[in-house]
Amino acid sequence: MIDIHCHILPGIDDGAKDMVEALALINLAVEDGVTRIVVTPHLHFGRFNNYLPVIESSFLALQEEVNKEKIQVELAYAAEVRLDSEILSLLASNQLPLYGRYNNQQFMLLEFPHSHIPAGSELLVKHLLKHNITPVIAHPERNRDLLKSPDKIKPFARLGCWFQVTASSITGHFGEDCQALALSYIEQDLIQIVASDAHNLKRRPPLLSKARRKITELFGEEQAQKLFYDNPYNITASLFEL
Ligand SMILES: [Fe+2]
Repeated sequence: MIDIHCHILPGIDDGAKDMVEALALINLAVEDGVTRIVVTPHLHFGRFNNYLPVIESSFLALQEEVNKEKIQVELAYAAEVRLDSEILSLLASNQLPLYGRYNNQQFMLLEFPHSHIPAGSELLVKHLLKHNITPVIAHPERNRDLLKSPDKIKPFARLGCWFQVTASSITGHFGEDCQALALSYIEQDLIQIVASDAHNLKRRPPLLSKARRKITELFGEEQAQKLFYDNPYNITASLFEL
């Protein structure tokens, strides 16, 4: 499996606190069957100012430790970019931390606030798409607007956005409502990717296999392969060719 949304870089957001925790998270992911990880620290303007140089240097330090420990995993980095008008200036200066290139598109992990979908979100998404950047909208099943009105996802789907569901939503960690919405979206074929969104060992661990088994039971092996391997592989493969 490939995990393309997790907060493993030590000390730069609300994920791993230090290198010890970062390595423990990676070891746990590997034990669970993960072979590739794209770390995605929050880039949340004013809260976590993780611009590319910050992410790069933190990533290099982590990669060095992983090499030293001989952990069998491939690593790359992007970011979970919070919806904000600041995105436009980063786009203009080529400073957006993106996933890779696939089908002439680049992909970007985009986070809405959990409380709602802000006015203007569609405009920003259209702007990104015009620049050949496809937003991968993080955990729609945990957004309160969408929990109330699930069909509000549709305009974004029609525009061409991709969507990523959190593995532990599928297994019920975020409650029955999030679980039901995640499964309903998957059933409607609206979701392209499942990822862990791991933050720590106990409450938000980097585990995918249990969710994968559930998806296989409910929707079959082909759907599980797409959500947990093929789609995450395709949109991040170019990051691993560097
Ligand atoms: Fe996240």
